[in-house]
Amino acid sequence: LPDRPSGTPPPDPEPSAGTSGAGGAGAGKPVPAEADLERRRFFRQFAGDLFQAAATVVGTASMIQRSSAEAAQAILQPEEGAATLAGSTMLDERGAGAIAGGFRTPFRLLDDGILVLIDQRRLPDEIVDQPVRNASEAAWAIREMVVRGAPAIGQVAALGIARSARLARMTRPHARRAMLRGAANALIAARPTAVNLRWAVDRVMARYLEIGELSEDGEAIAAAVQQEAETIVHQATVDHGRLAEFGLEVLPVPEGRPLRLLTHCNTGPLACGQFGTALGIVQVAHHAERELHVWVDETRPYLQGARLTAWELAQAGVPHSLIADSAAGWLMARGEVDAILVGADRIAANGDTANKIGTYALAVLADRHGIPFYVCAPLSSVDLETPDGAGIQIEERSGEELLVIRGKRIAPAATGARNPAFDVTPAELITGIVTEEGVLRAPFGPALVAARAAAAERWAAAPAFGTRP
Ligand code: MRU
Repeated sequence: LPDRPSGTPPPDPEPSAGTSGAGGAGAGKPVPAEADLERRRFFRQFAGDLFQAAATVVGTASMIQRSSAEAAQAILQPEEGAATLAGSTMLDERGAGAIAGGFRTPFRLLDDGILVLIDQRRLPDEIVDQPVRNASEAAWAIREMVVRGAPAIGQVAALGIARSARLARMTRPHARRAMLRGAANALIAARPTAVNLRWAVDRVMARYLEIGELSEDGEAIAAAVQQEAETIVHQATVDHGRLAEFGLEVLPVPEGRPLRLLTHCNTGPLACGQFGTALGIVQVAHHAERELHVWVDETRPYLQGARLTAWELAQAGVPHSLIADSAAGWLMARGEVDAILVGADRIAANGDTANKIGTYALAVLADRHGIPFYVCAPLSSVDLETPDGAGIQIEERSGEELLVIRGKRIAPAATGARNPAFDVTPAELITGIVTEEGVLRAPFGPALVAARAAAAERWAAAPAFGTRP
């Protein structure tokens, strides 16, 4: 397991108009259930309200939303009839709950605009809030894996910049420019492989540029950046719901026995903000009453499968078993895997896909055994500027993640380790890419371009999220 995190972000280098002290009350500490009124209020809200965005997500995905709410209600035993929406700046006419989500959503906004993340380093042992007050704290949280998963880190980065733009609205234009540019660079550098991060930062910074980098109107900049960040979250929510439903179509239907899926790393709401990608499909299938069982790769060395995917599946009531990563090939050889669903951190223009280390080995094994291998990812994970997998930067992480488990060294002191966090699966090993525009098949190059265009057209035709300033 990763080291027990010590957990507070670095001091705030930015103006902190109107914010509470560093780290906020209880930052990085477990919050006693009885004292955690804010969290209870938040879960009550989730349990009581279907969020508006779900209205645009048809069918099973919205059923998931409802039953997740029921699950949250049961788990947290909120008082009967407790209300409702106070507590988030997002929970208003601009699309209630697109950001607030609920129990399994890794972040939410408080009244004063502070972003609160669930510290994923602490799961599944405890649910701990980590306040994030500006972009540099967001970069810290992403770097330290408080939040992880490609779509989620993009959303948190966008919200972090929005927060900094708000804090800087009274700042002189040159200073604001330096601050926002610095924030954008720090966020993009926080994790190099997941392209969603750069994509989201570029989107909010483009809105800033649209107004003018040296504009005097700090309020307009803050409003525009905030609106773009909220739009990113809203669109991800809708798109992931669509993706989950498209994914249902590709699942094999075995005769007289449960469907056996295998997944790697964590691709649920913790990684995505809502629904999840590969795990979103699993949940849609479960809610559609398809009998299934999920083999969960533990995902050494960081154990996203054991710690996070198993936690999410347990909460969703989906039958699953943890397996050692190295057991996957044997289960395939025995005919115990019907399909493999994984996420993506970056899909190059030709379909080559970077995902959590171990994904490539699964794809090779799937090919050997004739098992369908699906990459499930939103189009924000597609990088059309990188022609193929050779151009994708692979994050190398500390060898300590391999050498030390729960604070105990498992290898001789003299032994070092190499720890690439991702690998690249060549397009030819991928059966299909499940996206919010449908399931793409080879040749992936033109399919990805067409899907991107279709998504842009769909969103251009949709009413703007919130009031565009
Ligand atoms: O290092 P992580 O935990 O951020 O890696 C996450 C993954 O590899 C996921 O599979 C990927 O981000 C897709 S999430 C839908």
